Amino acid sequence: MSTLTLSACAKLNLTLDVAGRRPDGYHEMRMVMQSVSLADEITLDFGTSQGISVRTNLGFLPNDRRNLAWSAAAAFEAAVKQPVNVTVSIRKQIPVCAGTGGGSSDAAAVLRGLNQHYQTGLTPLELARLGEAVGSDVPYCVLGGTALAGGRGEVLTPLPDLPDCWLVLCKPAFSISTPELFHAADAVRLRCHPDTTGVLQALEAGDLTGVARRMYNVFEDVLPISRANEVQSIKSALLSCGALGACMSGTGPTVFGLFAEEEAARKAWQSLRALYQDTFLTRPAGSGRTPK
Ligand code: C5P
Repeated sequence: MSTLTLSACAKLNLTLDVAGRRPDGYHEMRMVMQSVSLADEITLDFGTSQGISVRTNLGFLPNDRRNLAWSAAAAFEAAVKQPVNVTVSIRKQIPVCAGTGGGSSDAAAVLRGLNQHYQTGLTPLELARLGEAVGSDVPYCVLGGTALAGGRGEVLTPLPDLPDCWLVLCKPAFSISTPELFHAADAVRLRCHPDTTGVLQALEAGDLTGVARRMYNVFEDVLPISRANEVQSIKSALLSCGALGACMSGTGPTVFGLFAEEEAARKAWQSLRALYQDTFLTRPAGSGRTPK
């Protein structure tokens, strides 16, 4: 029997733009992605059971093929053509259904861990390709760091690291259906788009303020009005606490603020935590960066 423990980092969208609908029903995306040190803990136990099994510390999460971690293990087994006997235990820290990539990141950690244990020698890029069938954000979560994501989300270009900063994440207590939000975006002409090119230039220049001021997510504009108001009020609270910029991540509802200084970030975290249980203080992580 052997055990592997891995960290599965959350992701944020520094920008999110939808460029249109694709013939396969998915949408063409342009997103600047960032891993953060807020992470689930994934433990892989080998030799304790036959086949693939998943358990989590949250009773309401599925333990079968509906869990992306299970799908990832099945995709790995099919690709390497050898039986996988693993029990995946997931200790959730990343909020669930929050736009912060928790399920995708758990799946990515399973792919990395199985590759390590079975010594299959797949490169990170090959693992990322394997993750495409599991979910659109899984390839990014395999590679992590700061990256531009195009296509469905799987066409990845590594970018210079986001300069060191502090991030406060705050998830309001409602959930949003991803397909419904995409439908809502199809139904309107999007009024604003993020300045993705400006963000790429700011990253090249190591200009944290330039990144933060340009962060934007087109889904903020298609939320139902009461939801949009709550997202706006969290953004305003973060900005009034000194965030350089604030934005919703993915299909939401998590909102995050980017801070240059720890003290201001800590104050924002404390004041929002009094209102929202799922509030986190975190830092950039991934791609060769030591998690803080
Ligand atoms: O690929 P994934 O399973 O994460 O996608 C979930 C849903 O999000 C899809 O069924 C689709 O409705 C929507 N989606 C999309 N375009 C993308 C990614 C996701 O329309 N690029």
